Amino acid sequence: MEVAWSHVAVAVAAVAWALAAAAARARPRGMATKEWLQGLVIAHFPAFYHKHILPAVYGDLTASINVGQPYLRDLLPTLEAAPSLGAASFGPGDVVDPSPDAAGSRKIVATSLLPRMLEALADYETGATGKMYAAVDALVEACLPHVGACPDGTRPTLDRCVYYCMNKERGAYFPVIHWDTDWVQFPGAAGFQLWFLARAHGRAGVGNMFVVSTPDLRPDDPSVRYVPTKGGGLAKIFHDSSAHEYPLKRFASVADAGLRFEYLAMAPGDCLIMCKRHLHMSDPRLLLDGEANDRLAVNFRVVFTEAPGAGATIPFWPYHSYNLACHQRLKHRAFTDGTMDADETCHITVQRHEMLNLAWNKDWD
Ligand SMILES: [Fe+2]
Repeated sequence: MEVAWSHVAVAVAAVAWALAAAAARARPRGMATKEWLQGLVIAHFPAFYHKHILPAVYGDLTASINVGQPYLRDLLPTLEAAPSLGAASFGPGDVVDPSPDAAGSRKIVATSLLPRMLEALADYETGATGKMYAAVDALVEACLPHVGACPDGTRPTLDRCVYYCMNKERGAYFPVIHWDTDWVQFPGAAGFQLWFLARAHGRAGVGNMFVVSTPDLRPDDPSVRYVPTKGGGLAKIFHDSSAHEYPLKRFASVADAGLRFEYLAMAPGDCLIMCKRHLHMSDPRLLLDGEANDRLAVNFRVVFTEAPGAGATIPFWPYHSYNLACHQRLKHRAFTDGTMDADETCHITVQRHEMLNLAWNKDWD
């Protein structure tokens, strides 16, 4: 039988077109195909954990956060009207409160660390850690003068700092009003978090992050999200990253919840310092418009050890649902080396950079 090659070519093209069309429909708007595919891989083949896995996790999370907020678009007028916050908004005397119950304390500082951070990022992609660890240390040292005293009254120093979870991915991957549930793992710990802008989105005035404040957020609140609901309302939701986070409180409107938004009008090299219980959200506007966000930020949390000096411990609660490679190691350490309080808090020793990448640490290789 004679093969009509032109028919084969047409058939192959039709199948390829159908697959591409199906993938485009399944892929969330604003997300690169690569990120989406990585998310699928990590969801179904967790054994693929390695240093590049966090972007995949976040790609998947961004999709679920977006899908889980069908009324996110209702926030757009509020976001468009939000005033801007920049390094010039703060004075030399302003400091961020690192105390365990702090809420709503923040400051933006301009740094000279952009070239160093960009070089470190490029080096880190190759698997080397030295330049990144040094750049992160330099950033923390630059920010510590803008942070208030430790709960014991001493000034925070670098050797009192342990880092947790550095995100360094392009895009705006957490478009939901929240404060980080990560802190639940460190009960009673003092500390703060940093958000360093390495590259801005090509279009000015869009793509960074919003910080959000409200008197409704109490110093003893657990980690929460505020999610838009049908009819312009909001739900305050207990945020523990479980499959079904439950609502704690409902509001008729953004104004009813007392939410006040500020857009981070930051330039590359600027760094936001915020206390651990500070509401924030990635700018969702590009995602909602279906436009990819080129913004690149480096952010991580800084946990203070419970006492100054070498070998000091951090408090650690080992039952959070997070379970990447780093968490698995921490949990093992807590159950084998740590001392557990009556309230199930362990006290473990962690090296300063050990928790920087949750999926991978060169020292574990
Ligand atoms: Fe966050």
